[in-house]
Amino acid sequence: MIAPSILSADFARLAEEMQAVEGADWLHVDVMDNHFVPNLTLGLPVVQSLLKTTDIPLDCHLMIEDPGRWAPPYAEAGAYNVTFHAEATEDPVAVARDIHAAGGKAGLSVKPNTPIEPYLEILRNFDTLLVMSVEPGFGGQSFIPQVLDKARAVRRLVDSGELRLVVEIDGGINMNTIEAAAEAGVDCFVAGSAVYGTPDPAATVEALREKVIETERAVRS
Ligand code: DX5
Ligand code: ZN
Repeated sequence: MIAPSILSADFARLAEEMQAVEGADWLHVDVMDNHFVPNLTLGLPVVQSLLKTTDIPLDCHLMIEDPGRWAPPYAEAGAYNVTFHAEATEDPVAVARDIHAAGGKAGLSVKPNTPIEPYLEILRNFDTLLVMSVEPGFGGQSFIPQVLDKARAVRRLVDSGELRLVVEIDGGINMNTIEAAAEAGVDCFVAGSAVYGTPDPAATVEALREKVIETERAVRS
């Protein structure tokens, strides 16, 4: 799955920018509160408006403090997947439960330096694991390949049937880096600047998807 991040889109033309990536599997929406990360983007009212203008499932990535308070309303509004950060709460399982109760899928995200081992046990409460491959806060940063060990570890648990979840990666994904992520067993690839920085974002989504398919074919043969 390819999930273009509208963080790199023109915020004054979000409806058109969403149409420009028709064919995307999910639309990745970065919510930042200027506390958990040193940047501020958009919040629930904008997401509610986006939901009215697209049929593509919204993948809301909450880079915010106190997700227990703020995350469930995104699910209630109709976001398909609501991801929050493991570093932002003492009780991720309770937050996941509340997101599910509000009708959404729940995702757990870990920053590049956060180990995954302490969270492996609780991942069965989640639908998505979002591995950050840049420090959260800004688009256009360079991919950190070391985080792929986390994707590989969780992939193994999914393949062995111990876990059922989507392994998603976010940060620095482009035509050059997507191959390594696909090899590590990632299912869903977020790409912001690599998609919106090109003249034909929909064609870029398709090219990224082709690259993943090619890589998976090569890995299997
Ligand atoms: C960064 C965000 C990403 C961002 C990725 O904190 O979570 O979703 O949009 O942008 P690129 O693909 O440009 O690294
Ligand atoms: Zn994101």
